[in-house]
Amino acid sequence: MDNRSVGIFDSGLGGLTAFSALRERLPDENLIYFGDSGRAPYGGRPEEQLRRMARQNLAFMQQQDVKAVLVACGTLSSIARDILAESSIKAVGVIDATVLAASRLAGSAPIGIIATAASIRSGTFEARMRELCPKNRILPVACPDFVPLIEGGHIQADDPAVREAVQRYLQPIKEAGAGTLILGCTHYGILAQAITDYLGPEVELVEASRCAAEDIADYLEGYHLCGSDGREEFYTSGSAGEFSALGSLLTGRPVDARHIPPQEA
Ligand code: DGL
Repeated sequence: MDNRSVGIFDSGLGGLTAFSALRERLPDENLIYFGDSGRAPYGGRPEEQLRRMARQNLAFMQQQDVKAVLVACGTLSSIARDILAESSIKAVGVIDATVLAASRLAGSAPIGIIATAASIRSGTFEARMRELCPKNRILPVACPDFVPLIEGGHIQADDPAVREAVQRYLQPIKEAGAGTLILGCTHYGILAQAITDYLGPEVELVEASRCAAEDIADYLEGYHLCGSDGREEFYTSGSAGEFSALGSLLTGRPVDARHIPPQEA
């Protein structure tokens, strides 16, 4: 047993989907969440900046003396794989567990991948997916409007702005007859219902946040590192009030976030 916390970070609210999945699987684990809302969205930023931010966020978690970090961000997981691999604390990104889960479901139908512009540009999800499913058609699509919509509180499946954006981005995936869709940005799980409403229930959604949460839970259990107190702490570099209000809505539990100033990117 190790009663230190697990750190989880993302550009904002999206990683709370991973937080919820991990909390569901390990109810007694101690969790520290950092949402970098003061610097969101990440997806339009240049690679060098994102790599610096990955290092800064890992360092913040190290200062909290966490035992492991869940990088609940598809963008940093795509761009900074080497930085996570070299980290002195165990850092789990979202890519490997997600593509593995998708490969098990895919069959022979095309596989869609939606993620931020930076993730799609990096080609990381696509390349790993091709390794596991070399015969499938793979359709990567960047959805740059999703994160600003969600961070702005547009989270309901029947929100007209959400429906319009979902249709606009997912039309080629629907037309190609994809059977599996990777939600490669952790924010996108929040739009899962809207996406299923548009694509139909026959399309399997593979949420990066859930896959990564399972991955880190397997690691903690496998090495007997689970905690026992169920503590939760939340930090944000954005507005603590807004993060707490939306965070409580999304997780269905009380989120009382503390503000920390955003670092220079
Ligand atoms: N949740 C982040 C991801 O998984 C969103 C990045 C952004 O802020 O654009 O990629």
